[in-house]
Amino acid sequence: MSSSDEETVLVVDFGAQYAQLIARRVRELNVYSELVGHDITADEVVARKPAAIVLSGGPKSVHVEGAPTLDPAIFDLGVPIFGMCYGAQVIAQQLGGTVSRFEQGEYGRTEMTGIGGTESKLFVGDTPVDQNVWMSHFDAISEVPEGFVATARTEAAPVAVLENHDRRIYGVQYHPEVGHTEHGMAVLGTFLHDIAECSATWTMGNFIDETVEKIASQVGSGRAICGLSGGVDSAVAAALVHKAIGSQLTCVFVDTGLMRANEGEQVVETFRRHQGIELIHVRAEDRFFDKLKGVADPEDKRKAIGELFIREFEAASGGIDDANFLVQGTLYPDVIESGTKDAAKIKSHHNVGGLPDDMEFELVEPLRNLFKDEVRQVGSELGLPDEIVWRQPFPGPGLGVRIIGEVTPELVGILQHADLIVREEIAKAGLEREIWQAFAVLPDIRSVGVMGDERTYARPAIIRAVTSEDAMTADWARLPYDLLETMSSRIINEVDGINRVAYDITSKPPGTIEWE
Ligand code: XMP
Repeated sequence: MSSSDEETVLVVDFGAQYAQLIARRVRELNVYSELVGHDITADEVVARKPAAIVLSGGPKSVHVEGAPTLDPAIFDLGVPIFGMCYGAQVIAQQLGGTVSRFEQGEYGRTEMTGIGGTESKLFVGDTPVDQNVWMSHFDAISEVPEGFVATARTEAAPVAVLENHDRRIYGVQYHPEVGHTEHGMAVLGTFLHDIAECSATWTMGNFIDETVEKIASQVGSGRAICGLSGGVDSAVAAALVHKAIGSQLTCVFVDTGLMRANEGEQVVETFRRHQGIELIHVRAEDRFFDKLKGVADPEDKRKAIGELFIREFEAASGGIDDANFLVQGTLYPDVIESGTKDAAKIKSHHNVGGLPDDMEFELVEPLRNLFKDEVRQVGSELGLPDEIVWRQPFPGPGLGVRIIGEVTPELVGILQHADLIVREEIAKAGLEREIWQAFAVLPDIRSVGVMGDERTYARPAIIRAVTSEDAMTADWARLPYDLLETMSSRIINEVDGINRVAYDITSKPPGTIEWE
């Protein structure tokens, strides 16, 4: 599904870690944005009819050999342009100004002051030009190109902001997209709404209306199936498609027996009873446990679970006559990454509801232009419960990769109980939305303990809680000691089979978030 009929801002990615964040910020200002590579040509830009172009920062200096540039013809298209950090330097350098290397760079909070006697169109209304901004640069613009005026400076950057009102080209040396820049959103909003005259129509309400129409026309009188995992992406995709085509959608939920406590029931309750969606509940627990007997190696386990999952999904959906559409909860970051990423395989992830080779479906991917926070908003607007909309990420192979060694129903029961306590205590402490994931892991070792007057010899539970932006990197969460103590004593007292609790203090890298 394309959003080409939506007024679009192109965010040119110069390789900055912040490019996706910039695209999200533009959308928070109710303007639809898409990320594009810096090698985009002027013809390609024209074909996409953008309302404006934003140039991201980049890790390189414009003086380094091979430093990325922009097709110069893009500057002559009359499309308003806003460059940030490296993006501002690209504007200065390519249009005839000078970017120099100074004695000292600027990193972090920096005081910016306006240059008297100049007219700014970025710092208008309540937005002061004298403000604290977030910098991260070594090179700085020393001379603006002809037709531009420098409207602000800092101690180490004689040109912190450059503006050309006639050509509607603007650049800021700082990072307006990060929270530490005081008026970053106001300045970006002024550029988008006032200078580029974008209308603020990108709202999730509008998105739902338009998407429902598109799905209805794509599917026509066909039949669609959707694999539900209990996670937010497939849940929102299903709810959206159901709104569009009602009973022409059937959802398939394969219960692997490896989900967290009560999760299977919750999926059935939410979709069948509340949303009124036709749902096939495949109770495959026994078959998964059979298949996992004697399997201890992490990759073998992942493979066994992934393969059986596909077979079960296939068997269930094969019984749905004439299904010719498959709904998938693909998100925009997946779309961006699959185009560019060439990362080494660390673990073989399997997508729940993965597409079997020998089934012929047309894909319905209603979320492929959305970021995760937008998906959550859509889910809330569609009436999905908070437990699903705000559910932590959960691996496809479920608790299977949180039990080290062979997976048995008994161990799953123990882990579900310990995991429930961890999540309950995180919720009680009000940390649910701050923590990326918090769960328990059951390692394949035992230790000696004493409870009452009895010697015990049982497994420990490891608590893993991390903060993260995108799961690519993560840090162990600094949970309060009192909270850890409550979790520890509750787990030991309430869960049979655990006599010790440890806390995992490994970041990613070098660790991964999951243990297998
Ligand atoms: P790792 O352990 O690689 O995990 O740091 C990164 C994120 O991905 C989740 N994860 C998975 N998600 N299928 C999924 O859909 C999988 O097989 C899978 N394995 C890990 C993990 O929970 C974390 O959020």
